[in-house]
Order: sequence, then structure tokens, then C-alpha cells
Amino acid sequence: EVKACLFDLDGVIVDTAKYHYLAWKRLANELGFDFTEQDNERLKGVSRVRSLEILLEIGGITLDEQEKQAGMDRKNGWYLEYINKMDSSEVLPGVKAFLQALRDNNIKIALGSASKNAMIILRNIDMVSYFDAIVDGTKTSQAKPDPEVFLLGAKELGVAPSECVVFEDAEAGVEAAKRAEMYCVGVGSAEQLGQADFVIASFDEMSIDRLKF
Ligand code: BG6
Ligand code: MG
Repeated sequence: EVKACLFDLDGVIVDTAKYHYLAWKRLANELGFDFTEQDNERLKGVSRVRSLEILLEIGGITLDEQEKQAGMDRKNGWYLEYINKMDSSEVLPGVKAFLQALRDNNIKIALGSASKNAMIILRNIDMVSYFDAIVDGTKTSQAKPDPEVFLLGAKELGVAPSECVVFEDAEAGVEAAKRAEMYCVGVGSAEQLGQADFVIASFDEMSIDRLKF
């Protein structure tokens, strides 16, 4: 029986992937190379540090620790400019209705995000109150595809992993859910999220009935 749903944030509740992309691209350009949207796929779901490492690998560049920290800080400054302008109009279609349906059916809700900016975004889109537990990048030490973020979410909710369903848009996130031995619904393209138990293109396709596997 499904007792809880755990949601990734970036790419599932809001489309912040475009802002991450624009900010990383700006850093790449400053460092003298280009960064495409296709490259950006590799950054989805992974931590800020890991994202920088992948970016530098793409550019064929090495930086020392101090320069890496400075690069991440600059990128995050630009990213904050975007997310500080967000409001509830940026919540993806069908998300709020589905979360409300979960609440009406006494199914618990947690956030399971790698982002250290998750609280800022949830406040700006006015959705903090939907969540019974919030696990973000300030609470985890292992990045997805490690299952830590989802296992911590289940623990905070007081439910077993086998009673949880994860919603994820990134390959690393789907892998994290499967490693946590949770059911996983992919949000996005079925081609990319083949490891998920099933894939929806948007929450407009989702309903409580589809949780009764
Ligand atoms: C994930 C995003 O949710 O959070 C990644 O999919 C991002 O692209 C990661 O790198 C860390 O986010 P932040 O906001 O802490 O830099
Ligand atoms: Mg995501």
C-alpha cells in the first residue's frame, strides 16, 4: 500500500532546469567554452559540486579548489537572480491538484531534492505547506544516484521504503529511487527514464488511481 509520495523539485514541481542551464552556460562562457542544452542533461539531478566537475570535464579545464568554489558561488549568484523572480505561476501543470488529492487521501508528502536552494523556491512558489517533510541539499551528504535523500525522506515521514513512490525527472534520481527500493514514476520522456516503473509527460496524466499498482 502506498503511504507516501516523495517529490524531486527541479524539473518535477518547477522547471528550474532552464535557470540552472543559463547560469552554468554563463560560467562556461566566462571560462572560454560553450555549453549546450544537451550537455545540460548530464547535470540534471546531480549536486552542485558534481555539476561543476562535469562542466569542467566538458570544457576540458582544471581549476584548483579555490577557483572551483568561486565558480560555484558565481553560478549560484546568477541562479538566485532567476529563482528570486519566481512565483506560483511557475508551478508545473497538474502538480498542485495532485498534491491536494494526496492530502485528501491521507498520503504523506515529502520533498527529496539535491538543491540547497529548495526552501527559497518553495517559499517563492508558496508551496511549503504541502510538505510533511522536506529533505534538500542542506540535509544530505551523498548526491543522487545515492539513495540517501529518499531514505531520509521516508524516515522523516515514518514510512517504509516499500510504501513510497518517488517522482523524478532525472536519470540519477530514478536510479536513486530504485536503489532506495521505492516505486518510481518518471516525469518526462520515457526514452530517457527507462528505469522508472512508469513515465508520465506531466502531472495532468497523474491521478490517485494510478498509485494503486
Ligand atoms: C538538483 C538539480 O535538483 O539540484 C541539479 O537537478 C542541481 O541540476 C542540484 O545541480 C543542486 O542545486 P543547487 O540549487 O544546490 O545548486
Ligand atoms: Mg530534477
